[in-house]
Amino acid sequence: MAGKEWTTVNPVGSRRVIVTKQLPGDRWLGVLRGADCQVDICMSESLLTLDEIKAAMGDHCDGAIGQLTEVWGKDLFAALKRAGGKAYSNYAVGYNNVDVAAATEVGIPVGNTPGVLTETTAEMAVGLTFAAARRLIEADTYMRSERFKGWLPTLFLGELLWRKTLGIIGMGRIGSAYARMMVEGHKMNVIYYDLHRKADMEDYISAYSAFLKDQGEEPVFCHRAESIEEVLEKADVVSVHTVLNENTYHVINRERLGMMKKNAILVNSSRGPLIDEAALVDHCREHPSFRTALDVFEDEPDMKPGLKDLDNVVVVPHIGSATGWTRQGMATLAARNVAAILLGYPAWNHEDISPFLEDDPPKAAPSIVNAKALNMPLYGA
Ligand code: DGY
Repeated sequence: MAGKEWTTVNPVGSRRVIVTKQLPGDRWLGVLRGADCQVDICMSESLLTLDEIKAAMGDHCDGAIGQLTEVWGKDLFAALKRAGGKAYSNYAVGYNNVDVAAATEVGIPVGNTPGVLTETTAEMAVGLTFAAARRLIEADTYMRSERFKGWLPTLFLGELLWRKTLGIIGMGRIGSAYARMMVEGHKMNVIYYDLHRKADMEDYISAYSAFLKDQGEEPVFCHRAESIEEVLEKADVVSVHTVLNENTYHVINRERLGMMKKNAILVNSSRGPLIDEAALVDHCREHPSFRTALDVFEDEPDMKPGLKDLDNVVVVPHIGSATGWTRQGMATLAARNVAAILLGYPAWNHEDISPFLEDDPPKAAPSIVNAKALNMPLYGA
């Protein structure tokens, strides 16, 4: 394979799987080896072009594990199909980079890696929230530049979040985990917008609220808003956790930014294009007490001009899921998705994927997003 550097593991395998980036740990390799796969891994940190991915597939490729930084569209799925491919897994829970319909059209199951990112990404959202609220990056920079000359009553005043209102846009798995951390840790009240009512979350917070009352403490509430606008107007912190699709692109736009409190905090650990980043730059510039903390960017890996120059902005390089446990878990799930399909197993039909992190997992593919569209048999059905 010309171009980027590749390495081959288990060259004697009768099946062939390409993996477009090195993945952490080696458990995932054991999974693919166990399915008699030769595994070709791209060792380069720079992005592969579509042509390089096609060249890597060549005329024999049974499966592929790809990255959220690659566009897996018609072109790549047609090439995978031509090479004899039967399975693809994204090394991510999000799959907005994948044209699932195109994969379905050529009969290729598409896997993703849910479940292992939930708490890890929620913890990152918590970290970002406090980094913004308590101005940690500005203060760190100040220390490193040796400007600290002694304690001052006015140095780096930030926002207290205790018992304030938390706004969540998209109360899915990660949004719910983040909400619970902020409610239980900081007694925040929750106002959320989601297409569906999250009764389990509401019940959980109401039971927690009853517990607080029992302890002689102020209760907390969880309220489902009628609109995104209601969340933006009422919340002190707004964290975006929805998926990216044509309905959620720029869900936070210029007009909606204008509805937020002037000293609000906006956090995004989901996908960059959910926020109109150029409008956010203008908003942060005009409102120095407004703060934002971003793990993801509209034109990732680039930032919109001006973003990095603002003190009221915290930026980190899409590391929401970056813990060893999570990234190794993602690798295990991606490998199990591909191996299971190649071995002819059905699709798992439960939200809980934890059995696939065990040594003796069910004989199924843990998470296939187009299983239904492909009429795949379901485990135990
Ligand atoms: C995902 O899996 O979708 C994440 O963005 C990776 O951190």
